Amino acid sequence: MKKINITIAGALGRMGKILVKRISKNKNLKLFSLTDLKPGKTINGIKIQKNNLEAFKKSDVIIDFSRPKSSLEILNYAKKLKKRVVIGTTGFTKQQNNLIKKYSKKIAIFKSGNMSLGINLLEYIVSILSKKIPNNYHIGINDNHHSKKIDYPSGTALMLANAVSKGKDKNLESIKGKVFLNKKGNLQKNKINFFITRKGNTVGKHSVFFNNKIENIELKHTAFSRELFADGALNSAIWISKKNKGLFNMQDMIGLK
Ligand SMILES: NC(=O)c1ccc[n+]([C@@H]2O[C@H](COP(=O)([O-])OP(=O)(O)OC[C@H]3O[C@@H](n4cnc5c(N)ncnc54)[C@H](O)[C@@H]3O)[C@@H](O)[C@H]2O)c1
Repeated sequence: MKKINITIAGALGRMGKILVKRISKNKNLKLFSLTDLKPGKTINGIKIQKNNLEAFKKSDVIIDFSRPKSSLEILNYAKKLKKRVVIGTTGFTKQQNNLIKKYSKKIAIFKSGNMSLGINLLEYIVSILSKKIPNNYHIGINDNHHSKKIDYPSGTALMLANAVSKGKDKNLESIKGKVFLNKKGNLQKNKINFFITRKGNTVGKHSVFFNNKIENIELKHTAFSRELFADGALNSAIWISKKNKGLFNMQDMIGLK
C-alpha cells in the first residue's frame, strides 16, 4: 500500500504533538506537513507553517485538532484542492456545523467529537438504553476534563446527549437542561443536565446516568491517554482516504449505523 501523506493542523498543541509521535509508528502513513499559528519551528525535519494552500497541496488527508475558526479555514483550502479532512476539533456553533455539512457535499470529511472506540460504542448503547428509560427518570451527563479545555459541554458530552435525544426520539435542543460548570446543582426534570468540571490534568472522563429515588444506572468511560484519540484519528484518516465526498463519523467507520 502506498503511504498516505498526512498534514497535521494544530501541530503545536496537546493533540498535535501526540499525533506527530504516533504517526511515526504507523506504516501506512507519512507525515507530510504541519500547520499552527506560529510558523517557523521545525519538528521531525518539517517546518511549521500557517494554514495555506501550499501546506496542503501534496497532502492526501488533513488531520485537524486546532480551533473551529481554523477548521473552517482548512475546509476552504481542502475544497479548492479536493482534499479529505479529519476533524477532531470541537466547540463548533450550529452555524459552523451547517457550514461543515455544506463542505461535505464537495469533499470527504470525517468528524468526531471523540475519536475513541469506547465512547463511540457507549454512544450506541446510550441511544438504545434511552429508548426504554421511562420519562420520569432524571438524566445527567458528567463531563470532566483538564483546566485548559475551552469548550463546554465537551464534544463528547454533546455526542452522548445527542444519543439520548435520538433514543427518546426528541430534538436535542428541546431536552437540553441545565449546565453546571465546576459546581453542584439540582437536576432539571425531563431534561438532560450537564455536570462539568475543568480542573487538573484529566484527559477525559464522561458518564451518562439515569436515576430516580430507588435506582441509578450509570455508563462511564475514562480516557487514560491522548494516544487514544490520536490513534483513532489516524485510523479515520486511513478509512477516509478512500472516500470522495460526504460527512462521516466513527459510527460509519465501525459499522454501527
Ligand atoms: N475529537 C477528539 O477525540 C478530541 C480529543 C482531544 C481534543 N479534542 C479537541 O481538539 C482541539 C485541540 O485540542 P488540544 O488539547 O490539542 O488543544 P491545544 O490548545 O493544545 O492545541 C490547539 C492548537 O491549535 C493551534 N491553532 C489555533 N488556531 C489555529 C489556526 N488558525 N491555524 C493553525 N493552528 C491553530 C493552536 O496554536 C494550538 O497549538 C480542541 O477543540 C479539543 O477540544 C478532540
